[in-house]
Amino acid sequence: MTRIGMACTICGKHQAFSYDQVTCICGGTLLVQYDMELAAKTMTKQAIQSRSASMWRYKELLPVSSPEGIVTLGEGWTPLTRINIQEIGLPISHVWIKREELNPTGSFKARGMSVAVSLLKERGVQCAAISSNGNAASALAAYAGCAGIEAFVFLPEDCPPLIVHECLSYGARTFRVQGLIQDASQWVEVGKQLRGWSSVATLKEPGRVEGKKTMGFELAEQWGWKLPSVIIYPTGGGSGLIGMWKAFHELKQLGMISDPMPRMVSVQDAGCSPLVSAMGKPVPVLDAPAATGMRVPWPPDLDLLVRILKESGGTAVAVRQVEIDEAQRNLGYRGVSSSPEGAATLAGLLKLCEEGWIRPDDSVVLFNTCHGLKYGKSLDLKGNPLLTNLNELFNKNC
Ligand SMILES: Cc1ncc(COP(=O)(O)O)c(C=O)c1O
Repeated sequence: MTRIGMACTICGKHQAFSYDQVTCICGGTLLVQYDMELAAKTMTKQAIQSRSASMWRYKELLPVSSPEGIVTLGEGWTPLTRINIQEIGLPISHVWIKREELNPTGSFKARGMSVAVSLLKERGVQCAAISSNGNAASALAAYAGCAGIEAFVFLPEDCPPLIVHECLSYGARTFRVQGLIQDASQWVEVGKQLRGWSSVATLKEPGRVEGKKTMGFELAEQWGWKLPSVIIYPTGGGSGLIGMWKAFHELKQLGMISDPMPRMVSVQDAGCSPLVSAMGKPVPVLDAPAATGMRVPWPPDLDLLVRILKESGGTAVAVRQVEIDEAQRNLGYRGVSSSPEGAATLAGLLKLCEEGWIRPDDSVVLFNTCHGLKYGKSLDLKGNPLLTNLNELFNKNC
């Protein structure tokens, strides 16, 4: 096993590995550390290439103690598709989209939950709980179900109905809570105290950051062990951002990449954009935030997110609902079913091109973190301009 402990992102202090203590006494977040020399012996580019098409191809840098304990549904190794967006007026030709909607449970949350639930199983946990905007909850429901662990999931009451249905269909005890994600969190804390539940909420355990880290490993590998100049990621609690940043550092440590780090960009909903404000950019609040994974008013470690964006030379950008809707259509016309979060990355790209922050020679990777179908509200197709009445089929205007 290569897992050797944890280190604090603020004071750097090393500590023993813990399944449920990920905050240092100084307040910093603790991240898993590995014996990199040992990992380097077997985690070579050649060895990885011959492994299964899943995120577990990077097993040396995942914290599970034995391969038999892995709870997997085949997550990861999602396609990285080049998209042509010059037609929509963007002065940039090197744009790719990481197709995270093709993960089990339809979102990138499967990666984190595969590791988190593997660790719960390793520890012999019976009941796990989460507060979530939806996708992490359904991923917990699916993986916990496979591991024989009872899942309790707490969602804001306006969570998209299909995601609520998904949680139920995987067998989770599912609760809708008045308010936002932080209101749902209180119930997890109560269950922890009264019933001894294990929390897998954002930055409450070490596995989810590690699982999401594999997005960074994959991106590097799919790019021929090179890195794009810009990554645009829809940010809520921020564990994906932390994970990818950690991935690039680990690959550098192993000598597997030598490119400069990408400029990391967080995109958020203009109605709820704490990271954009913390980066010193004013955001006029014009709309209420939509019920998406980006709606996290108080990310658990905002300072760390700011540090990552600044260290990378990146930025944060807020986008409005109308811009997200338009981006969703533009991705749809290119064969990509995007969630509002995924579409927000294209809307953010547009904005940053307009501002001149993204240059024509930049190479950009967008993350479509979830499938658009999970956000369907109803099957009412009335008024959709693409739905043609049969009577008009051979009309001269058709
Ligand atoms: C589809 C989607 N994208 C992005 C996010 C934000 O992810 P993170 O918590 O890593 O910032 C979420 C979180 O719920 C999500 O469901």
